[in-house]
Amino acid sequence: MPDKITTLRERKALALKGGGDKRIAAQHKKGKLTARERIDLLLDENSFQELDMLVRHRSSDFGLDKQKYYGDGVVTGHGRIEGRLVFVFSQDFTVLGGSLSEAYGEKICKIMDRAMEVGAPVIGLNDSGGARIQEGVVSLGAYADIFLRNTLASGVVPQISAIMGPCAGGAVYSPAITDFIFMVRNTSFMFVTGPDVVKTVTHEEVTFDQLGGADTHANKSGVSHLTAENELECLQAIRKLVGFVPQNNMEEPPIVACEDPSDRMDESLKTVIPDNPNKAYDMKDVISAVVDERDFFEIHKDYAQNIIVGFGRLGGRAVGVVANQPASLAGVLDIDSSKKGARFVRFCDAFNIPLVTFVDVPGFLPGTDQEWRGIITNGAKLLYAFCEATVPKITVITRKAYGGAYDVMSSKHIRGDLNFAWPSAEIAVMGPKGAVEIIFKKDIEEAQDKEKVTDQKINEYRERFANPYSAADRGYVDEIIEPQETRLKLIAGLEMLANKVVSNPAKKHGNIPL
Ligand code: HXC
Repeated sequence: MPDKITTLRERKALALKGGGDKRIAAQHKKGKLTARERIDLLLDENSFQELDMLVRHRSSDFGLDKQKYYGDGVVTGHGRIEGRLVFVFSQDFTVLGGSLSEAYGEKICKIMDRAMEVGAPVIGLNDSGGARIQEGVVSLGAYADIFLRNTLASGVVPQISAIMGPCAGGAVYSPAITDFIFMVRNTSFMFVTGPDVVKTVTHEEVTFDQLGGADTHANKSGVSHLTAENELECLQAIRKLVGFVPQNNMEEPPIVACEDPSDRMDESLKTVIPDNPNKAYDMKDVISAVVDERDFFEIHKDYAQNIIVGFGRLGGRAVGVVANQPASLAGVLDIDSSKKGARFVRFCDAFNIPLVTFVDVPGFLPGTDQEWRGIITNGAKLLYAFCEATVPKITVITRKAYGGAYDVMSSKHIRGDLNFAWPSAEIAVMGPKGAVEIIFKKDIEEAQDKEKVTDQKINEYRERFANPYSAADRGYVDEIIEPQETRLKLIAGLEMLANKVVSNPAKKHGNIPL
């Protein structure tokens, strides 16, 4: 027996070394951690239970028979984050560039299947050159097996991806199906094909970073939801995100002890709205004044900044916050912000996370660029997502709620449970100036002093419509609240709605305008 234990230990020791000391040193030199170091930082201390440590690939083409590594380039298993079960796979770039073989794919599928059976999140730490080229179609098949599981798990267990190296091909499409993608500045890259192939096909000269670096995907493509300065920050952000989400779609998100008084009034909110309705203010000031401990975890921060999405807690309960941002493009809804908002709303709805929506929106962005690129279809995504959502939905209109955007932003009509407005709210078909120029066009044209008549009509319109009272008159807002009471009202509302049960008609699935 001692000999046999020695053999086991030797094999495990080899597995722990991945691609060997030289490649580990190269990994460190690039500012990257190894697959195992990442798992240690991600999970609670000593909680990781590894599976399939001794799996090896079965291929012998192109010299692969001479390159067999225990674990085959991916470390898989389960562990705990703040005591809660999660499944993890961590790709090991030191073994054949973290490329995915048949055996490697089977390892990932195994933990995804377990995660689905027991109902726990899956976290993928990706650092891979994609399908293992030497294995040919077998590795493509292995990817497809993963894509299928990513899709079936979507909306059942939370799936979080970190990109921690140069990820190509299948190594980006699997994360793309998951709920969140986090990237690390300078060391992580995502592309379908790398700069060399791009040069051959399109003759474009582009660097790794320009093509698929963290900033490119955070700002331009919107593929990434968070940019971390380094790997530790990225792994800590994943831990934080996990704290807001339930284990699966049958559970509620965790409730944590809250020391921030639920009746805390924030007097700063009384003056946050500028006197001039055309002046901007930062909606993040409103959000952070309201949530527990002023702690707002913003997601997708660098993309479509005219809408804000992220997680916070109210009275210890996790909420998803969606808010127009008047400080960026006046908070207008355009293609990118609609897509960003819709995806977030659907995540929250799938995982029983109540939605709190702050509204200050002048409408949808007009113009040929938006129309030709499909603001109709894309704007409808956000409308569809809010309509479909059955989680508790509380809305606060701080200022403008104009036109179709009023309907879209979790209005009463699309099953907003509690719709509040501040006294500064302006709820109407369109802003005073635009409205007057249309409905009083003739009067203005015929007037001697056009400016005077226009101003007069604008004042009349503002008096009549640019306030929350017409909406309150009809019950379209449930209550007009003073800004400083917002936190109290939201927490009382969430408590009232805690046992809300609403379901949509039975169907295979809806047909969201994609
Ligand atoms: C086998 C691979 C590999 C792969 C990298 N390696 N990618 N081996 N299959 N896909 C190996 C390299 O040969 C090298 O081995 C080691 O990993 C490190 O790679 P380097 O190129 O030296 O590293 P780096 O310069 O950092 O570049 C990383 C990279 C590049 C950008 C990922 O290697 C690359 O472009 N790889 C190919 C990407 C790709 O096109 N993959 C196939 C996608 S198709 P040695 O022994 O020399 O150190 C796909 C289909 C899925 O995934 C379906 C999608 C829908």
